[in-house]
Amino acid sequence: MRPPHGLRHHRSIMSDTSFEHLSPEQFRAAGYALIDWLVDYRARVAELPVKSPLAPGDVRAQLPPAAPEQGTDFKAILEDVERIIVPGLMHWQSPNFFGYFPANASPPSILGDLLSSGLGVQGMLWLTSPACTELESHVLDWLVDALGLPQRFKTTTAGGGVIQDSASSATLCALLAARERIADYTVRQQGVPPGLVAYCSEETHSSLDKAVSIAGIGRAQLRKIATDERLAMRVDALAAAIAADRAAGLTPFFVCATIGTTSSLAIDPVREIAALCQAEGLWLHVDGAMAGSATLCPEYRHLNDGMEGVDSYCFNPHKWLLTNFDCDCFFVADREPLIRALTVLPEYLRNDATAGGEAIDYRDWQIPLGRRFRALKLWFVLRSYGLEALRSFIRQHLALAEEFAQWVTEDSRFELVAPRSLNLICFRLKGSDQENQRLLKRLNDSGRLFMSHTVIGGRYALRFCIGQTYTTREHVVEAWRLITAL
Ligand SMILES: Cc1ncc(COP(=O)(O)O)c(C=O)c1O
Repeated sequence: MRPPHGLRHHRSIMSDTSFEHLSPEQFRAAGYALIDWLVDYRARVAELPVKSPLAPGDVRAQLPPAAPEQGTDFKAILEDVERIIVPGLMHWQSPNFFGYFPANASPPSILGDLLSSGLGVQGMLWLTSPACTELESHVLDWLVDALGLPQRFKTTTAGGGVIQDSASSATLCALLAARERIADYTVRQQGVPPGLVAYCSEETHSSLDKAVSIAGIGRAQLRKIATDERLAMRVDALAAAIAADRAAGLTPFFVCATIGTTSSLAIDPVREIAALCQAEGLWLHVDGAMAGSATLCPEYRHLNDGMEGVDSYCFNPHKWLLTNFDCDCFFVADREPLIRALTVLPEYLRNDATAGGEAIDYRDWQIPLGRRFRALKLWFVLRSYGLEALRSFIRQHLALAEEFAQWVTEDSRFELVAPRSLNLICFRLKGSDQENQRLLKRLNDSGRLFMSHTVIGGRYALRFCIGQTYTTREHVVEAWRLITAL
């Protein structure tokens, strides 16, 4: 006789009777319970303290020292999520989250990710799940048109798109492809030749420091180019640095430009940088991690100006496009250097589709071999909302940011530290850095909102980034009220 439905474990008929799976009915009930829990969590998340009040070690202190010998009811596990995990979370999905950059998730995306987990496929080769590869190629080709990117980023050309876990990985892959290309495809066999030099601006994300370390270029060979008054890379300084390095007998090979830097969303002049890189034979990678989503709106397409001259580009739907982490879209104008940098073909992966050369094997476009079916969540988001609604979503944040910047400018106690860019406002109290730090701490300790900080031109700045899934004008008004009250 079957055990009653519910959340107790089902003893399966196996030779080792201590081994248990959830029965299909128990799995279904637990799944419904989890979805119910998640829906309720998202409904009440605005009421929770955005920043966890816990101290280091508080979460672990509540966990048993050893893994349980006996299985536990799913209901009990879910109760511990509420009791132990929730208090230890920063609630990134709170509409009162204005820190860092957003990581906005949405119901279709959560369901797409759940489906990916449930299907449990490994998309390393076309053969190991044709749909995993082809949906990914197709959705990324859709995005090329939706974002107004150059056609040569489409998988139907010599280039193409792939989903990476993060922008950090995309940037590393771009660097590895560039390294292979400049060394005439000898690095794989011979190792990294000496004298390679990469360039970025003083404002470029730290993932490039990490990438040059990993790639054996070395941080001493990463030139941080000065920025102008808008914190954008100075092309004259870049040209001078390249010339100086050539004169010193070094080999410039890679530039990373950014559309929307992390500190202040500054926009590097991609068209001019691309022209220089083409003249000098350097690989140009463009990092549009967060700002890239804005180009869904035709009025922000100018951010892509010059993109037809770049070698690779990435942006993160897992920041501002309602797709939960992890989902970075990485495009290359020519897939050959990337594939030649990363391909390996051991006997056990050989198959007719790979040998035929018509199928894409995405294992060659990334660092790991295995890969999740991430395209599902992006597909769910695009289909469920449609581009029109996604544009409205972005525009709503842009309008709120404009309004917020206006409030800052009109309040004589505050000042903007950088011009507002898109959905990010960097501002400060007219006072000492310490006063600003104190204000930020009080705001975040209140639990009623979360903001982060940066330093711009040597000055401490508060960052207010509007991009959460459920943030409305009310939340922004309330945040400003709290900031000014404290
Ligand atoms: C401009 C920029 N590039 C790269 C990254 C790194 O993103 P990821 O976490 O996807 O590696 C960030 C993170 O905020 C960023 O702002």
